[in-house]
Amino acid sequence: MVRAAVQRVPSGPSPLFISPSLDATWFPCAAGAHGDSELLCMKAASMNAHQSLAIGQPIETLEAVSPAATEPDAMVRFEGISKTYPAYRGKPGVNALENIDFASPRGSITGVIGRSGAGKSSLVRLINGLEKPTTGRVIVDNRDISALAGRELRLAQRSIGMIFQHFNLLSSRTSADNIALPLEIAGWAKADIKARVTELLALVGIADKHDRYPSELSGGQKQRVGIARALATRPDVLLSDEATSALDPQTTRAILDLLANINRELGVTIVLITHEMSVVRQLAKEVVVLDAGHVVESGHVADIFTHPKHPITQSFLAEVIGDSLPVSLASRIVSEPSAGGQAVIRVQVRGAGAGDTVVARLARELGLDVSLLSARIDEIGGQHVGSLTLGIPGGEDAVTRTLAWLSQYQFSAESLGYVA
Ligand SMILES: Nc1ncnc2c1ncn2[C@@H]1O[C@H](COP(=O)(O)OP(=O)(O)OP(=O)(O)O)[C@@H](O)[C@H]1O
Ligand SMILES: [Mg+2]
Repeated sequence: MVRAAVQRVPSGPSPLFISPSLDATWFPCAAGAHGDSELLCMKAASMNAHQSLAIGQPIETLEAVSPAATEPDAMVRFEGISKTYPAYRGKPGVNALENIDFASPRGSITGVIGRSGAGKSSLVRLINGLEKPTTGRVIVDNRDISALAGRELRLAQRSIGMIFQHFNLLSSRTSADNIALPLEIAGWAKADIKARVTELLALVGIADKHDRYPSELSGGQKQRVGIARALATRPDVLLSDEATSALDPQTTRAILDLLANINRELGVTIVLITHEMSVVRQLAKEVVVLDAGHVVESGHVADIFTHPKHPITQSFLAEVIGDSLPVSLASRIVSEPSAGGQAVIRVQVRGAGAGDTVVARLARELGLDVSLLSARIDEIGGQHVGSLTLGIPGGEDAVTRTLAWLSQYQFSAESLGYVA
């Protein structure tokens, strides 16, 4: 899976024998059999190795809106993209991506979310031209990157930074020297490199780690070096392939905050590849949901996750708001009503205050003594999204009346059974 162009780089300062094609995608290989020289590999970045809803307010059916249709100033645009890895040596070909159309607006943060094997890394490698599409075009900053080659491609790649799950720092170089590398490759003067590196170390909050080697840094600090390195040549686009997947939740939040600041302060367009809903929820304004090589939904985060249509999108949402009941409640639910018992109904709530409103109006309009058995509400893209589990006194009749009332106001609801 990993296509690697290996380049031997002698120890010591210069010259650096680095293939120009390594500009955007170099990372350190294990040395070992290759001798004691530091090795740089180009892995084609094949990192496999790794809705507001208030009661009485009608809900419009929201079609998945392609940002391309609404956002003329796209920084990254996929047009009719498919990617097939060809068959070779008896191994079958793989259709990794099919009919991909979406756009990332200039200055936006777009989250591309999907399960393992969905095609996320394949998609990101098309953005920096490491892979060519089988059909279609990838337009980056109004240039068809899929049509570029040689020097033109390498120059275009300088305006596209990338950060990786496993940081991909050179172990033999200090933080400062790791950050300096793309500037050396780009032919910057020494004094300019020094000033830029100092600036970048401060930007990512590790000015005091200037002389530290990767082995002396925490995961979060290593990723800060990775981010500084990716920003060194002042790219317009920053690609992040699972950049926080190896970090603990607190460090993940700090790195995502840093990326948000970079987007805000520098205006860099960010495309985030992730399998974690929490990453999309914290950072992205736009989202593309990928499943088995297809875009199943795309658009504004708040729109997509308040009206999730595709099962895969619903499953990502469930990760945040949860769809499991407290054990103590789940264990008491039975299929038949009992005298004096309650019907258990779960209601999906969307939009600020919707949760409070549904309980209050149910009680008032249906004269029901509603009890709240469990609730989970979160905020995604500035919208409240969650589910309430309600206890309604009575049997089947109460369930029928309640579900009809909820349905009238377009709430998605289901009967879970009864508790004594
Ligand atoms: N260079 C390659 N040659 C052949 N098949 C490949 C290659 N790279 C990826 N694939 C296949 O393409 C499909 C999509 O892989 P990709 O790495 O893009 O998925 P992913 O969404 O990034 O997965 P993960 O979350 O596990 O990183 C998979 O079936 C994978 O095996
Ligand atoms: Mg991947």
